[in-house]
Amino acid sequence: MNHAPRFRILLAALCMLVAGGCAHHAQREAPRIVPLPQSVQRQAGELKFAQVVALRADAAAPHAGRALSTLLAQLEIRADDAAPTRVHLQLKPDEALPAEGYRLTIADDITLSATSDTGLFYAVQSLRQMLPPRAQAQYRLPHVTISDAPRHAWRGSSLDVARSFLPIEYLQKHIERMALFKLNRLHLHLSDDQGWRIQIKRYPRLTEIGGASAVKGGRAGYYTQDELRQLVAYAQARGVTLVPEIDMPGHVQAALASYHELACDEVSNLAPYDGLEVGFSVLCLDKPEVIYPFVENVLREVLAIFPSREIHIGGDEIKHPRYAEFVARAAAIVESMGRTPILWEEGSVADTQPQVLLQLWNDGYDIAPAVAKGHPLILSPCSYFYLDHGNFAGQPETYDWCRKQGVPLARSYAFDDSAYPTAVGVEAALWSEWVHNDAAADNRLWPRLGAVAEVAWSPAASRDYASFRQRMGALRAHLDQLGVAYYAEPDLGWATTSARSTTLSPTCATASSPAARRACISTHSTAPNPRSQ
Ligand code: ACM
Repeated sequence: MNHAPRFRILLAALCMLVAGGCAHHAQREAPRIVPLPQSVQRQAGELKFAQVVALRADAAAPHAGRALSTLLAQLEIRADDAAPTRVHLQLKPDEALPAEGYRLTIADDITLSATSDTGLFYAVQSLRQMLPPRAQAQYRLPHVTISDAPRHAWRGSSLDVARSFLPIEYLQKHIERMALFKLNRLHLHLSDDQGWRIQIKRYPRLTEIGGASAVKGGRAGYYTQDELRQLVAYAQARGVTLVPEIDMPGHVQAALASYHELACDEVSNLAPYDGLEVGFSVLCLDKPEVIYPFVENVLREVLAIFPSREIHIGGDEIKHPRYAEFVARAAAIVESMGRTPILWEEGSVADTQPQVLLQLWNDGYDIAPAVAKGHPLILSPCSYFYLDHGNFAGQPETYDWCRKQGVPLARSYAFDDSAYPTAVGVEAALWSEWVHNDAAADNRLWPRLGAVAEVAWSPAASRDYASFRQRMGALRAHLDQLGVAYYAEPDLGWATTSARSTTLSPTCATASSPAARRACISTHSTAPNPRSQ
Protein backbone atom coordinates (compact mmCIF):
# COMPACT_ATOMS: atom_id res chain seq x y z
CA MET A 1 0.00 0.00 0.00
CA ASN A 2 1.28 3.45 -0.95
CA HIS A 3 1.19 5.80 2.05
CA ALA A 4 2.61 8.79 0.19
CA PRO A 5 -0.70 10.57 -0.61
CA ARG A 6 -1.91 10.11 2.96
CA PHE A 7 1.40 11.44 4.25
CA ARG A 8 1.15 14.49 1.96
CA ILE A 9 -2.37 15.24 3.18
CA LEU A 10 -1.19 14.93 6.78
CA LEU A 11 1.77 17.20 6.10
CA ALA A 12 -0.46 19.75 4.34
CA ALA A 13 -2.83 19.67 7.33
CA LEU A 14 0.08 20.25 9.70
CA CYS A 15 1.21 23.13 7.52
CA MET A 16 -2.25 24.67 7.83
CA LEU A 17 -1.99 24.42 11.61
CA VAL A 18 1.42 26.04 11.83
CA ALA A 19 0.62 28.55 9.11
CA GLY A 20 3.68 29.74 7.27
CA GLY A 21 5.87 27.13 8.94
CA CYS A 22 6.01 24.86 5.91
CA ALA A 23 6.31 27.51 3.23
CA HIS A 24 8.97 25.62 1.34
CA HIS A 25 6.97 22.41 1.31
CA ALA A 26 3.85 24.34 0.34
CA GLN A 27 5.68 25.74 -2.67
CA ARG A 28 6.26 22.23 -3.95
CA GLU A 29 2.53 21.56 -3.68
CA ALA A 30 1.45 24.68 -5.58
CA PRO A 31 3.10 28.05 -6.04
CA ARG A 32 1.96 30.47 -3.40
CA ILE A 33 -0.06 32.57 -5.86
CA VAL A 34 -3.54 34.02 -5.38
CA PRO A 35 -5.40 34.18 -7.71
CA LEU A 36 -4.40 30.79 -9.05
CA PRO A 37 -2.79 31.20 -12.49
CA GLN A 38 -4.33 29.69 -15.59
CA SER A 39 -1.42 27.29 -16.17
CA VAL A 40 1.46 26.32 -13.90
CA GLN A 41 4.05 23.79 -15.04
CA ARG A 42 6.56 22.73 -12.44
CA GLN A 43 9.99 21.55 -13.50
CA ALA A 44 12.48 19.76 -11.33
CA GLY A 45 14.89 21.92 -9.43
CA GLU A 46 15.01 25.35 -7.95
CA LEU A 47 16.70 28.67 -8.49
CA LYS A 48 18.82 29.96 -5.62
CA PHE A 49 20.22 33.46 -5.59
CA ALA A 50 21.67 35.85 -3.06
CA GLN A 51 20.88 39.54 -2.71
CA VAL A 52 22.00 40.51 -6.21
CA VAL A 53 20.60 40.05 -9.73
CA ALA A 54 21.32 41.38 -13.22
CA LEU A 55 18.28 43.38 -14.24
CA ARG A 56 17.06 43.80 -17.85
CA ALA A 57 13.85 45.84 -17.72
CA ASP A 58 12.04 47.13 -20.81
CA ALA A 59 11.70 50.90 -20.37
CA ALA A 60 8.43 50.78 -22.34
CA ALA A 61 6.74 49.14 -19.33
CA PRO A 62 7.17 51.83 -16.65
CA HIS A 63 4.55 50.56 -14.20
CA ALA A 64 5.88 47.02 -14.20
CA GLY A 65 9.45 48.35 -14.02
CA ARG A 66 8.62 50.46 -10.97
CA ALA A 67 6.84 47.53 -9.30
CA LEU A 68 9.86 45.28 -9.91
CA SER A 69 12.33 47.87 -8.59
CA THR A 70 10.19 48.40 -5.50
CA LEU A 71 10.05 44.64 -4.91
CA LEU A 72 13.80 44.22 -5.25
CA ALA A 73 14.46 47.20 -2.99
CA GLN A 74 12.10 45.82 -0.34
CA LEU A 75 14.00 42.52 -0.42
CA GLU A 76 17.37 44.34 -0.41
CA ILE A 77 18.27 42.74 -3.74
CA ARG A 78 20.76 44.88 -5.66
CA ALA A 79 21.06 45.13 -9.42
CA ASP A 80 24.51 44.30 -10.79
CA ASP A 81 25.15 43.36 -14.43
CA ALA A 82 27.77 40.83 -13.36
CA ALA A 83 25.34 38.82 -11.18
CA PRO A 84 24.81 35.19 -12.31
CA THR A 85 21.02 35.36 -11.97
CA ARG A 86 19.31 37.58 -14.49
CA VAL A 87 15.81 39.04 -14.26
CA HIS A 88 14.28 39.89 -17.65
CA LEU A 89 11.22 42.07 -17.81
CA GLN A 90 10.21 42.15 -21.44
CA LEU A 91 7.36 43.39 -23.58
CA LYS A 92 6.99 41.22 -26.65
CA PRO A 93 4.30 40.27 -29.16
CA ASP A 94 2.54 37.06 -28.16
CA GLU A 95 -0.60 36.18 -30.11
CA ALA A 96 -1.69 33.66 -27.49
CA LEU A 97 -1.74 36.19 -24.64
CA PRO A 98 -4.67 38.56 -23.94
CA ALA A 99 -3.84 42.15 -22.99
CA GLU A 100 -3.63 41.50 -19.25
CA GLY A 101 -1.91 38.12 -19.64
CA TYR A 102 1.72 37.33 -18.84
CA ARG A 103 4.30 34.56 -18.73
CA LEU A 104 6.68 33.97 -15.86
CA THR A 105 9.50 31.48 -16.23
CA ILE A 106 11.85 30.60 -13.43
CA ALA A 107 14.84 28.52 -14.51
CA ASP A 108 18.48 29.65 -14.41
CA ASP A 109 17.06 33.14 -14.92
CA ILE A 110 13.74 34.78 -14.10
CA THR A 111 11.87 35.89 -17.22
CA LEU A 112 8.70 37.93 -17.11
CA SER A 113 7.04 38.66 -20.45
CA ALA A 114 3.77 40.15 -21.66
CA THR A 115 2.33 42.22 -24.46
CA SER A 116 1.38 45.13 -22.19
CA ASP A 117 2.69 47.03 -19.19
CA THR A 118 -0.34 45.77 -17.24
CA GLY A 119 0.41 42.14 -18.08
CA LEU A 120 4.01 42.60 -16.98
CA PHE A 121 2.83 44.31 -13.81
CA TYR A 122 0.81 41.17 -13.00
CA ALA A 123 3.84 38.98 -13.70
CA VAL A 124 5.69 41.05 -11.07
CA GLN A 125 2.83 40.53 -8.61
CA SER A 126 3.04 36.74 -9.03
CA LEU A 127 6.78 36.90 -8.44
CA ARG A 128 6.16 39.15 -5.43
CA GLN A 129 3.87 36.51 -3.92
CA MET A 130 6.33 33.67 -4.58
CA LEU A 131 9.15 35.54 -2.88
CA PRO A 132 9.12 36.17 0.88
CA PRO A 133 7.89 39.61 1.93
CA ARG A 134 11.06 40.51 3.83
CA ALA A 135 14.78 40.49 3.00
CA GLN A 136 16.72 37.25 3.34
CA ALA A 137 20.35 36.32 2.72
CA GLN A 138 19.32 33.82 0.07
CA TYR A 139 16.21 33.35 -2.06
CA ARG A 140 14.88 30.07 -3.44
CA LEU A 141 12.26 29.74 -6.13
CA PRO A 142 10.96 26.55 -7.76
CA HIS A 143 11.63 26.04 -11.45
CA VAL A 144 8.30 26.78 -13.05
CA THR A 145 6.62 28.05 -16.20
CA ILE A 146 3.49 30.09 -15.60
CA SER A 147 1.19 31.29 -18.31
CA ASP A 148 -1.66 33.39 -17.04
CA ALA A 149 -4.53 35.68 -18.01
CA PRO A 150 -7.71 36.75 -16.23
CA ARG A 151 -11.05 35.13 -16.71
CA HIS A 152 -12.90 38.41 -16.15
CA ALA A 153 -12.06 41.99 -17.09
CA TRP A 154 -13.79 43.45 -14.01
CA ARG A 155 -12.22 42.43 -10.71
CA GLY A 156 -13.60 44.92 -8.29
CA SER A 157 -13.64 46.16 -4.74
CA SER A 158 -16.03 48.92 -3.74
CA LEU A 159 -15.73 51.12 -0.70
CA ASP A 160 -18.56 53.14 0.79
CA VAL A 161 -16.73 56.27 1.84
CA ALA A 162 -20.05 58.15 2.17
CA ARG A 163 -21.53 56.61 5.33
CA SER A 164 -18.11 56.74 6.97
CA PHE A 165 -15.13 58.41 5.35
CA LEU A 166 -11.87 56.63 4.59
CA PRO A 167 -8.84 58.92 4.34
CA ILE A 168 -6.88 59.14 1.11
CA GLU A 169 -3.93 57.36 2.78
CA TYR A 170 -6.16 54.35 3.40
CA LEU A 171 -7.27 54.33 -0.23
CA GLN A 172 -3.61 54.32 -1.32
CA LYS A 173 -2.88 51.35 0.93
CA HIS A 174 -5.97 49.59 -0.32
CA ILE A 175 -4.93 50.07 -3.95
CA GLU A 176 -1.48 48.61 -3.21
CA ARG A 177 -3.12 45.57 -1.59
CA MET A 178 -5.60 45.18 -4.44
CA ALA A 179 -2.71 45.20 -6.91
CA LEU A 180 -1.00 42.29 -5.12
CA PHE A 181 -4.11 40.22 -5.88
CA LYS A 182 -4.61 41.55 -9.44
CA LEU A 183 -7.84 43.33 -8.55
CA ASN A 184 -8.33 46.16 -11.02
CA ARG A 185 -11.43 48.25 -10.27
CA LEU A 186 -11.86 50.39 -7.16
CA HIS A 187 -15.44 51.66 -7.09
CA LEU A 188 -15.85 54.61 -4.72
CA HIS A 189 -19.37 55.20 -3.40
CA LEU A 190 -18.85 58.95 -3.03
CA SER A 191 -22.28 60.18 -2.01
CA ASP A 192 -25.14 58.97 0.11
CA ASP A 193 -27.61 60.21 2.69
CA GLN A 194 -24.97 60.47 5.41
CA GLY A 195 -22.25 62.29 3.47
CA TRP A 196 -20.96 63.85 0.24
CA ARG A 197 -17.26 63.14 -0.22
CA ILE A 198 -16.07 64.74 -3.46
CA GLN A 199 -15.33 68.43 -3.92
CA ILE A 200 -17.56 69.94 -6.63
CA LYS A 201 -16.36 73.48 -7.28
CA ARG A 202 -19.67 74.73 -8.67
CA TYR A 203 -21.53 73.54 -5.55
CA PRO A 204 -19.22 74.23 -2.58
CA ARG A 205 -21.89 73.53 0.04
CA LEU A 206 -21.90 69.86 -1.00
CA THR A 207 -18.68 69.43 0.92
CA GLU A 208 -19.09 72.29 3.42
CA ILE A 209 -22.35 70.76 4.67
CA GLY A 210 -22.55 67.30 3.08
CA GLY A 211 -18.89 66.59 3.79
CA ALA A 212 -19.30 67.42 7.48
CA SER A 213 -21.77 64.66 8.29
CA ALA A 214 -21.41 60.89 8.64
CA VAL A 215 -23.28 57.91 9.98
CA LYS A 216 -23.46 58.00 13.79
CA GLY A 217 -20.06 56.93 15.09
CA GLY A 218 -18.47 57.20 11.64
CA ARG A 219 -16.00 59.65 10.14
CA ALA A 220 -16.85 62.80 8.18
CA GLY A 221 -14.59 64.34 5.54
CA TYR A 222 -14.17 64.77 1.81
CA TYR A 223 -11.58 64.52 -0.96
CA THR A 224 -10.42 67.58 -2.89
CA GLN A 225 -10.28 67.29 -6.65
CA ASP A 226 -6.47 67.51 -6.53
CA GLU A 227 -6.31 64.62 -4.04
CA LEU A 228 -8.53 62.51 -6.26
CA ARG A 229 -6.50 63.31 -9.39
CA GLN A 230 -3.36 62.18 -7.59
CA LEU A 231 -5.14 59.05 -6.43
CA VAL A 232 -6.21 58.29 -10.02
CA ALA A 233 -2.55 58.42 -11.12
CA TYR A 234 -1.44 56.35 -8.11
CA ALA A 235 -4.03 53.71 -8.98
CA GLN A 236 -3.20 53.73 -12.71
CA ALA A 237 0.42 52.94 -11.88
CA ARG A 238 -0.87 49.83 -10.10
CA GLY A 239 -3.29 48.63 -12.76
CA VAL A 240 -6.33 49.90 -10.87
CA THR A 241 -9.07 52.05 -12.41
CA LEU A 242 -11.00 54.25 -10.00
CA VAL A 243 -14.73 54.14 -10.74
CA PRO A 244 -16.67 56.99 -9.13
CA GLU A 245 -20.27 56.61 -8.04
CA ILE A 246 -22.64 59.51 -7.48
CA ASP A 247 -25.76 57.79 -6.20
CA MET A 248 -29.07 59.22 -7.49
CA PRO A 249 -31.97 59.92 -7.57
CA GLY A 250 -32.20 58.40 -4.04
CA HIS A 251 -29.59 58.28 -1.26
CA VAL A 252 -29.21 62.07 -1.56
CA GLN A 253 -29.98 63.55 1.87
CA ALA A 254 -26.48 65.05 2.10
CA ALA A 255 -27.06 66.86 -1.21
CA LEU A 256 -30.54 68.02 -0.15
CA ALA A 257 -29.17 69.29 3.17
CA SER A 258 -26.59 71.28 1.19
CA TYR A 259 -28.91 72.62 -1.55
CA HIS A 260 -32.53 72.63 -0.40
CA GLU A 261 -33.84 73.49 -3.87
CA LEU A 262 -32.98 69.95 -5.02
CA ALA A 263 -35.81 68.65 -2.80
CA CYS A 264 -39.50 68.99 -3.55
CA ASP A 265 -41.11 71.97 -1.85
CA GLU A 266 -43.20 69.89 0.54
CA VAL A 267 -40.16 68.12 2.00
CA SER A 268 -39.56 69.48 5.47
CA ASN A 269 -36.64 67.34 6.69
CA LEU A 270 -33.59 68.83 5.08
CA ALA A 271 -31.16 68.31 7.95
CA PRO A 272 -27.91 66.34 7.68
CA TYR A 273 -28.54 62.68 8.45
CA ASP A 274 -26.60 60.20 10.58
CA GLY A 275 -29.02 57.27 10.75
CA LEU A 276 -29.25 53.88 9.07
CA GLU A 277 -32.49 54.07 7.11
CA VAL A 278 -32.47 53.92 3.33
CA GLY A 279 -34.96 54.88 0.65
CA PHE A 280 -36.32 58.11 2.16
CA SER A 281 -34.54 60.86 0.23
CA VAL A 282 -34.92 61.71 -3.45
CA LEU A 283 -34.01 64.49 -5.85
CA CYS A 284 -37.26 66.25 -6.73
CA LEU A 285 -38.17 64.42 -9.93
CA ASP A 286 -40.96 66.95 -10.54
CA LYS A 287 -38.41 69.76 -10.86
CA PRO A 288 -36.52 68.70 -13.99
CA GLU A 289 -35.37 72.28 -14.60
CA VAL A 290 -33.51 72.17 -11.25
CA ILE A 291 -32.21 68.63 -10.94
CA TYR A 292 -30.95 67.86 -14.46
CA PRO A 293 -28.62 70.89 -14.64
CA PHE A 294 -27.34 69.83 -11.19
CA VAL A 295 -26.76 66.26 -12.36
CA GLU A 296 -25.02 67.44 -15.51
CA ASN A 297 -22.80 69.99 -13.74
CA VAL A 298 -21.77 67.53 -11.03
CA LEU A 299 -21.02 64.79 -13.54
CA ARG A 300 -18.98 67.15 -15.70
CA GLU A 301 -16.65 67.84 -12.76
CA VAL A 302 -16.57 64.18 -11.71
CA LEU A 303 -15.67 63.01 -15.22
CA ALA A 304 -12.94 65.62 -15.49
CA ILE A 305 -11.22 63.90 -12.54
CA PHE A 306 -11.86 60.23 -13.33
CA PRO A 307 -10.80 58.93 -16.76
CA SER A 308 -12.66 55.64 -16.18
CA ARG A 309 -14.75 54.63 -19.19
CA GLU A 310 -17.47 53.45 -16.80
CA ILE A 311 -19.19 55.88 -14.42
CA HIS A 312 -21.59 54.70 -11.72
CA ILE A 313 -24.77 56.72 -11.22
CA GLY A 314 -26.41 54.57 -8.56
CA GLY A 315 -30.16 54.17 -8.98
CA ASP A 316 -30.76 51.86 -6.01
CA GLU A 317 -33.46 51.65 -3.37
CA ILE A 318 -35.92 54.28 -4.46
CA LYS A 319 -39.50 53.92 -5.57
CA HIS A 320 -41.02 56.81 -7.53
CA PRO A 321 -43.36 57.06 -10.53
CA ARG A 322 -40.71 59.04 -12.44
CA TYR A 323 -37.78 56.81 -11.44
CA ALA A 324 -37.33 55.11 -14.82
CA GLU A 325 -37.50 58.44 -16.64
CA PHE A 326 -34.80 59.87 -14.37
CA VAL A 327 -32.49 56.90 -14.78
CA ALA A 328 -32.78 56.94 -18.58
CA ARG A 329 -32.07 60.66 -18.67
CA ALA A 330 -29.13 60.52 -16.25
CA ALA A 331 -27.65 57.59 -18.22
CA ALA A 332 -28.02 59.60 -21.42
CA ILE A 333 -26.15 62.52 -19.81
CA VAL A 334 -23.21 60.20 -19.01
CA GLU A 335 -23.28 58.85 -22.58
CA SER A 336 -23.38 62.38 -24.03
CA MET A 337 -20.09 62.95 -22.18
CA GLY A 338 -18.55 59.93 -23.91
CA ARG A 339 -18.72 57.46 -21.03
CA THR A 340 -20.66 54.31 -20.18
CA PRO A 341 -23.06 54.41 -17.22
CA ILE A 342 -23.28 51.76 -14.52
CA LEU A 343 -26.55 51.38 -12.60
CA TRP A 344 -27.51 49.22 -9.69
CA GLU A 345 -29.84 46.38 -10.78
CA GLU A 346 -33.05 48.39 -10.25
CA GLY A 347 -32.00 50.59 -13.17
CA SER A 348 -32.84 47.68 -15.47
CA VAL A 349 -36.47 48.91 -15.54
CA ALA A 350 -35.43 52.05 -17.42
CA ASP A 351 -35.15 52.35 -21.16
CA THR A 352 -31.37 52.55 -21.55
CA GLN A 353 -28.83 51.54 -24.17
CA PRO A 354 -27.91 47.84 -23.99
CA GLN A 355 -24.26 48.68 -23.27
CA VAL A 356 -25.21 50.25 -19.92
CA LEU A 357 -23.72 48.07 -17.18
CA LEU A 358 -25.94 46.77 -14.42
CA GLN A 359 -24.63 45.81 -11.01
CA LEU A 360 -26.51 42.91 -9.45
CA TRP A 361 -26.72 43.07 -5.65
CA ASN A 362 -29.76 41.06 -4.51
CA ASP A 363 -29.14 37.37 -5.16
CA GLY A 364 -32.72 36.77 -6.24
CA TYR A 365 -33.27 39.85 -8.42
CA ASP A 366 -34.79 38.97 -11.79
CA ILE A 367 -32.01 40.21 -14.02
CA ALA A 368 -32.88 37.84 -16.90
CA PRO A 369 -34.80 40.44 -18.96
CA ALA A 370 -31.81 42.80 -18.81
CA VAL A 371 -29.45 39.97 -19.75
CA ALA A 372 -31.74 39.21 -22.71
CA LYS A 373 -31.33 42.85 -23.78
CA GLY A 374 -27.57 42.30 -23.66
CA HIS A 375 -26.70 44.45 -20.65
CA PRO A 376 -23.26 43.54 -19.28
CA LEU A 377 -23.37 42.63 -15.58
CA ILE A 378 -21.10 43.30 -12.64
CA LEU A 379 -21.90 40.59 -10.13
CA SER A 380 -22.11 41.61 -6.47
CA PRO A 381 -24.78 39.30 -5.04
CA CYS A 382 -24.95 40.27 -1.40
CA SER A 383 -24.88 36.76 0.06
CA TYR A 384 -21.43 36.23 -1.49
CA PHE A 385 -19.87 39.66 -1.85
CA TYR A 386 -21.27 42.07 0.77
CA LEU A 387 -18.28 42.30 3.06
CA ASP A 388 -20.10 44.45 5.59
CA HIS A 389 -21.58 41.08 6.54
CA GLY A 390 -19.67 39.06 9.08
CA ASN A 391 -16.61 36.96 8.47
CA PHE A 392 -18.63 34.57 10.63
CA ALA A 393 -22.21 34.43 11.88
CA GLY A 394 -22.83 37.00 14.57
CA GLN A 395 -19.60 38.95 14.16
CA PRO A 396 -20.16 42.16 16.12
CA GLU A 397 -20.67 45.35 14.11
CA THR A 398 -21.75 43.61 10.96
CA TYR A 399 -25.00 43.44 9.07
CA ASP A 400 -26.78 40.18 8.39
CA TRP A 401 -29.87 41.31 6.48
CA CYS A 402 -28.76 39.46 3.36
CA ARG A 403 -27.43 36.29 4.98
CA LYS A 404 -27.87 35.61 8.65
CA GLN A 405 -24.85 33.26 8.70
CA GLY A 406 -22.65 36.13 7.51
CA VAL A 407 -20.44 35.83 4.43
CA PRO A 408 -17.55 33.60 5.48
CA LEU A 409 -14.48 33.20 3.28
CA ALA A 410 -15.69 29.85 1.94
CA ARG A 411 -18.99 31.43 0.91
CA SER A 412 -17.33 34.18 -1.17
CA TYR A 413 -15.05 31.57 -2.71
CA ALA A 414 -17.99 29.36 -3.72
CA PHE A 415 -19.65 31.87 -6.04
CA ASP A 416 -20.57 30.40 -9.42
CA ASP A 417 -21.16 32.93 -12.19
CA SER A 418 -22.18 30.42 -14.85
CA ALA A 419 -25.82 31.58 -14.76
CA TYR A 420 -24.82 35.06 -16.00
CA PRO A 421 -23.69 34.93 -19.61
CA THR A 422 -23.15 38.70 -19.90
CA ALA A 423 -21.06 39.02 -16.73
CA VAL A 424 -17.95 41.16 -17.13
CA GLY A 425 -16.78 40.30 -13.64
CA VAL A 426 -17.40 40.43 -9.93
CA GLU A 427 -17.10 43.11 -7.27
CA ALA A 428 -17.16 42.88 -3.49
CA ALA A 429 -18.81 45.75 -1.64
CA LEU A 430 -17.86 47.19 1.73
CA TRP A 431 -20.72 49.33 3.04
CA SER A 432 -19.75 51.42 6.01
CA GLU A 433 -22.75 51.74 8.30
CA TRP A 434 -20.75 49.65 10.81
CA VAL A 435 -17.24 50.17 9.46
CA HIS A 436 -15.98 53.34 11.10
CA ASN A 437 -12.21 53.10 10.99
CA ASP A 438 -9.32 51.67 8.97
CA ALA A 439 -8.88 48.60 11.17
CA ALA A 440 -12.54 47.63 10.81
CA ALA A 441 -12.24 48.04 7.04
CA ASP A 442 -9.17 45.79 6.97
CA ASN A 443 -10.94 43.19 9.08
CA ARG A 444 -13.90 43.03 6.72
CA LEU A 445 -11.88 43.15 3.50
CA TRP A 446 -9.09 40.66 4.19
CA PRO A 447 -8.67 37.80 3.52
CA ARG A 448 -12.05 37.72 1.77
CA LEU A 449 -10.82 39.91 -1.09
CA GLY A 450 -8.31 37.16 -1.87
CA ALA A 451 -11.23 34.83 -2.54
CA VAL A 452 -12.95 37.49 -4.63
CA ALA A 453 -9.78 37.91 -6.69
CA GLU A 454 -9.59 34.19 -7.37
CA VAL A 455 -13.28 33.99 -8.34
CA ALA A 456 -12.74 36.89 -10.75
CA TRP A 457 -9.41 35.80 -12.24
CA SER A 458 -8.94 32.03 -12.20
CA PRO A 459 -10.52 29.47 -14.51
CA ALA A 460 -13.76 28.26 -12.88
CA ALA A 461 -12.84 24.60 -13.36
CA SER A 462 -9.56 24.98 -11.46
CA ARG A 463 -11.11 26.52 -8.37
CA ASP A 464 -10.53 24.41 -5.29
CA TYR A 465 -11.06 25.71 -1.76
CA ALA A 466 -8.47 23.39 -0.19
CA SER A 467 -5.82 24.65 -2.60
CA PHE A 468 -6.93 28.26 -2.04
CA ARG A 469 -6.69 27.83 1.74
CA GLN A 470 -3.16 26.59 1.45
CA ARG A 471 -2.00 29.33 -0.95
CA MET A 472 -3.87 32.20 0.75
CA GLY A 473 -2.83 30.93 4.16
CA ALA A 474 0.81 31.12 3.12
CA LEU A 475 0.40 34.78 2.10
CA ARG A 476 -0.24 35.88 5.66
CA ALA A 477 3.27 37.27 6.00
CA HIS A 478 2.72 39.37 2.88
CA LEU A 479 -0.39 40.89 4.43
CA ASP A 480 1.56 41.46 7.66
CA GLN A 481 4.29 43.23 5.74
CA LEU A 482 1.64 45.49 4.18
CA GLY A 483 0.28 46.27 7.65
CA VAL A 484 -3.15 44.73 7.01
CA ALA A 485 -5.28 44.29 10.15
CA TYR A 486 -6.98 41.25 8.57
CA TYR A 487 -9.48 38.94 10.18
CA ALA A 488 -7.53 35.98 11.62
CA GLU A 489 -9.41 33.40 9.56
CA PRO A 490 -9.45 29.93 11.13
CA ASP A 491 -9.97 28.34 7.70
CA LEU A 492 -6.49 29.60 6.79
CA GLY A 493 -4.93 28.35 9.99
CA TRP A 494 -4.57 31.92 11.27
CA ALA A 495 -6.59 31.28 14.45
CA THR A 496 -8.73 28.63 16.05
CA THR A 497 -12.49 28.75 15.74
CA SER A 498 -12.79 29.40 19.47
CA ALA A 499 -11.49 32.91 18.70
CA ARG A 500 -14.83 33.67 17.08
CA SER A 501 -17.55 35.32 19.07
CA THR A 502 -20.53 33.04 19.36
CA THR A 503 -22.97 35.87 20.08
CA LEU A 504 -25.55 35.98 17.34
CA SER A 505 -26.94 39.38 16.53
CA PRO A 506 -30.71 39.43 16.04
CA THR A 507 -31.75 38.93 12.47
CA CYS A 508 -34.54 40.47 10.48
CA ALA A 509 -34.69 37.67 7.95
CA THR A 510 -38.45 37.73 7.56
CA ALA A 511 -38.67 41.36 6.46
CA SER A 512 -40.17 41.78 3.03
CA SER A 513 -37.43 43.73 1.24
CA PRO A 514 -33.80 44.76 1.68
CA ALA A 515 -34.92 48.23 2.76
CA ALA A 516 -37.30 46.77 5.32
CA ARG A 517 -34.60 44.40 6.53
CA ARG A 518 -32.15 47.26 6.98
CA ALA A 519 -34.74 49.35 8.78
CA CYS A 520 -35.51 46.37 11.00
CA ILE A 521 -31.83 45.94 11.78
CA SER A 522 -31.44 49.60 12.53
CA THR A 523 -33.93 49.23 15.35
CA HIS A 524 -32.98 45.74 16.53
CA SER A 525 -29.27 45.42 15.96
CA THR A 526 -27.11 45.02 18.98
CA ALA A 527 -24.00 45.70 16.96
CA PRO A 528 -22.11 48.01 19.29
CA ASN A 529 -20.96 51.37 18.10
CA PRO A 530 -17.18 51.49 18.66
CA ARG A 531 -17.22 55.30 19.03
CA SER A 532 -19.64 55.21 21.93
CA GLN A 533 -17.93 52.51 23.96
C1 ACM B 1 -27.21 48.57 -2.36
O1 ACM B 1 -26.78 47.77 -1.52
N1 ACM B 1 -28.22 49.37 -2.02
C2 ACM B 1 -26.67 48.66 -3.71
